[in-house]
Amino acid sequence: MQPHELVDLENGLIAREIFFSETLYRQELERIFARSWLFLGHVSQIPERHDFFTNYMGEDPVVVLRDEGGRVRVFLNSCPHRGMRLCRLDSGNAARFTCSFHGWTFSSEGALVGVPFFKEAYHEALDRDAWGLAECPLVATYGGLIFACWDTQAGSLDDYLGDIRWYLDIVLERVRHFEVIPGLQRYTLDANWKIAAENFTGDTYHVPFSHGSVFQLEARTQNPVNWSTGHTLHTVRFEGGHGMTGIEMTGARYDTDLAIAATMGAEVVEYVEEGQRRLTERLGARQAKIYNIGFGNVFPNFSINSFSAFGPIGLYLWHPRGAGTLESWGWCAFDRDAPQVMKDHMRIDFARNQAAAGVIAQDDTENFEQVTQSSRGVIGRRRPFNYQMGLGRETAHAMPGYPGQYLDYYSEAGQRGFYDRWAQLMEMAS
Ligand SMILES: [Fe+2]
Repeated sequence: MQPHELVDLENGLIAREIFFSETLYRQELERIFARSWLFLGHVSQIPERHDFFTNYMGEDPVVVLRDEGGRVRVFLNSCPHRGMRLCRLDSGNAARFTCSFHGWTFSSEGALVGVPFFKEAYHEALDRDAWGLAECPLVATYGGLIFACWDTQAGSLDDYLGDIRWYLDIVLERVRHFEVIPGLQRYTLDANWKIAAENFTGDTYHVPFSHGSVFQLEARTQNPVNWSTGHTLHTVRFEGGHGMTGIEMTGARYDTDLAIAATMGAEVVEYVEEGQRRLTERLGARQAKIYNIGFGNVFPNFSINSFSAFGPIGLYLWHPRGAGTLESWGWCAFDRDAPQVMKDHMRIDFARNQAAAGVIAQDDTENFEQVTQSSRGVIGRRRPFNYQMGLGRETAHAMPGYPGQYLDYYSEAGQRGFYDRWAQLMEMAS
């Protein structure tokens, strides 16, 4: 079957096969991950020359670094000689990378600058200029967020992100110094990567039910929004398969944040007020009216959440590791200039909710694993998933002046957009 037959968007039906077929998975690596702009990290993770961190683009390991001249570059983290993983660390600072297998050494520009026994072993005949590191041709940042793409035909990052930029700006512009705090939350799930990505694209529907115990236990005592009715929240989808939900447009959260701030001291009140002032000054009243973005996904596998001035900014990658395996990566970011008491609050909030041992993440990972595992059987795989929510109501909520397509609060149109993009790319031959 062709991708657009597996993904029947007119009828809101998606074949379970796309979540367990290893054949489709191999095609996804070629046609989606090797063609899309992929999030890798934030510039605050590599502030100085020769700083680096490692990450993945699909299943390809990469090292992201600041070179001699301060430019951000992305190299395949695999020695050209025999393929050994060149950089074995998560992050650090190094002017040279030496392969631990045979000792080939590379500069921060990717040049092969050292070959052991060059005379004795190669008789000086090896063309060192031809054996530098493979470099990712497209690297760009948006508001400090680093993305890269292997496909030179992909177009610009700005075009790729499109209208979701307008909403990312709200997260990025409120803070003075966006900083990803050290420490990566990383764990492996027996789940297909798309299940996690589509959840962040717009699955508001699961929140009151899957995370109901969290609200009952009042683990988030400072949550003023009723996620069951969500009447102050919005769900939006964008061209390109991106989506967002939990977008908050009233002053309710701001008022609540100010009330919380008042219990924490004048410095905190001033900080929250200043953040809103900065947002208004930099972006204008219309954009500043959106107080929070909630959560969203940039196609294919980069998710972000931000719920209030007191909530951490969560950054997530859903790394594919086979049709039924996903490596979840998550970072917590905040404003480096926020009062210490707020930063402590955000760190604890992240640990308690969205980190590996957090209650929200545990609710979600249980869903992601069980969806994948219960779809592999002979009978189960014959029955499609249902994505019919809000079918035919995609244009029910015009919001003049606000980018993106505003949907019913509970709608699966965002997920349908995600799979539409998936099918388009899967149908484009390599
Ligand atoms: Fe969730």
